[in-house]
Amino acid sequence: MATAFIILAAGKGTRMQSDLPKVLHPIGGAPLLVHAMKSGAALDPDHMVVVAGHGAEQVEAAAKDWNPEAQVVVQSEQLGTAHAVAQAAPALAGFNGDAIVLYGDTPFISDATLAAMSAARLTHDIVVLGFEAADPGRYGRLVMDGTTLTKIVEFKDADDATRAITLCNSGVVCADVGTLFDLVASVGNDNAAGEYYLTDIIEIARTRGLSATAVTCDEAETLGINSRAELAAAEALFQANARVRLIDDGVTMLAPDTVFLSHDTVIGRDAVIEPNVVFAPGVTVETGATIRAFSHLEGCHVSRGAVVGPYARLRPGAELAEHVKIGNFVEVKNAQIAEGAKVNHLSYIGDATIGAGTNVGAGVITCNYDGVFKHQTTIGENVFVGSNTMLVAPVMLGDDAMTASGSVITRDVPAGDLAVARARQENKAGLARRMFEKLKKLKASKAKGS
Ligand code: UD1
Ligand code: CA
Repeated sequence: MATAFIILAAGKGTRMQSDLPKVLHPIGGAPLLVHAMKSGAALDPDHMVVVAGHGAEQVEAAAKDWNPEAQVVVQSEQLGTAHAVAQAAPALAGFNGDAIVLYGDTPFISDATLAAMSAARLTHDIVVLGFEAADPGRYGRLVMDGTTLTKIVEFKDADDATRAITLCNSGVVCADVGTLFDLVASVGNDNAAGEYYLTDIIEIARTRGLSATAVTCDEAETLGINSRAELAAAEALFQANARVRLIDDGVTMLAPDTVFLSHDTVIGRDAVIEPNVVFAPGVTVETGATIRAFSHLEGCHVSRGAVVGPYARLRPGAELAEHVKIGNFVEVKNAQIAEGAKVNHLSYIGDATIGAGTNVGAGVITCNYDGVFKHQTTIGENVFVGSNTMLVAPVMLGDDAMTASGSVITRDVPAGDLAVARARQENKAGLARRMFEKLKKLKASKAKGS
């Protein structure tokens, strides 16, 4: 069945106390909106329509950044959820299939739940996602008659008997797109809030001989974010779920609660993640790699059998081949490091390529920035870069070359050559001892004087 998603994201989110539109607050390193867009990816939607309002320009940019084909429509006044859905109609003109209404502030709806809703469409015209609420609070209530959903009553409009119902409305709805837009066009705003309620479509549908039902999911899936506290709680839930997923897939985590993951973190089986590691977005770690304690990784790729850290920082564009070693206090950015190469201590490697089997000594720095431009450092295979070598880019070291420690390398080093680029050492016979004596005398005379 062809499917379109309509994601409501026009609300202001006043309770976030923020200049950033609510749906752009991140969990797992991605905006809430992106999580909503990712949910149901398994249904492979043909259209993704985002209804933006507050901060529409920023919301549009974020939506298109994740999915360039996303369509963004603007609801300039937030007159209610039915009104919001109606804004998507022009974007879906000519589309035949089902529409699923989702919410930009509700990041955890699972593929399985949306698939269950799609399946329930085989027997009903409208499918609403409900959940048994531990505390039904101010949610809309689903009024059921057997498997038939007869109406949804908003809390504000509910009598005591209806408020006693614990089956609540998540807001997620699935229906044929033509039916949905016909129904929302008929919704009025004669209610306690004076809003156009999407929930009213159920009663209108019944008067037209259409049937509705509810599919249920776990309450945790329908968690919506309205405040900073809820955002923090959602982050914690995201992290807990993401860790469990990786552990179930065969990743070893010594202290899972101290490992922070992103929405797109990929880690292969038998990888070992030591305590206190942060995975910012865009990281892939292959099977059997080890990420040692207190490392920070972002936008990088760590191949099989590589060892990173402790205390390493991999920045965007760091590409480590198999069995590479990156040790403590090493920062790598936009650099390809070939198989078996080692950068073990206190280095900065930026805008560089390092060949297989090369050893980079302690304290080596690629001086990649001249204050205006970035330059490339190219290091061949089986090179030995002496400790504290400054590689002033652009510069190349050929295969099997060596640099003497403390060298400042400003010119290319041909393959097999040894470059020494530092002042020659001179030993002054006895001068140290004479200096010490002189200084000690001076100190003693000053002590007497005071
Ligand atoms: C809605 C449901 C309620 C359900 C609850 C679940 C209605 C009338 N009520 O209530 O039954 O239990 O969600 O959380 O649908 N939005 C727009 N434009 C608008 C209005 C809303 O984009 O004009 C967006 C909001 O940004 C928000 C979402 O739709 O993300 C829900 O709107 P909100 O006003 O929060 O609805 P609730 O009162 O929570
Ligand atoms: Ca809400």
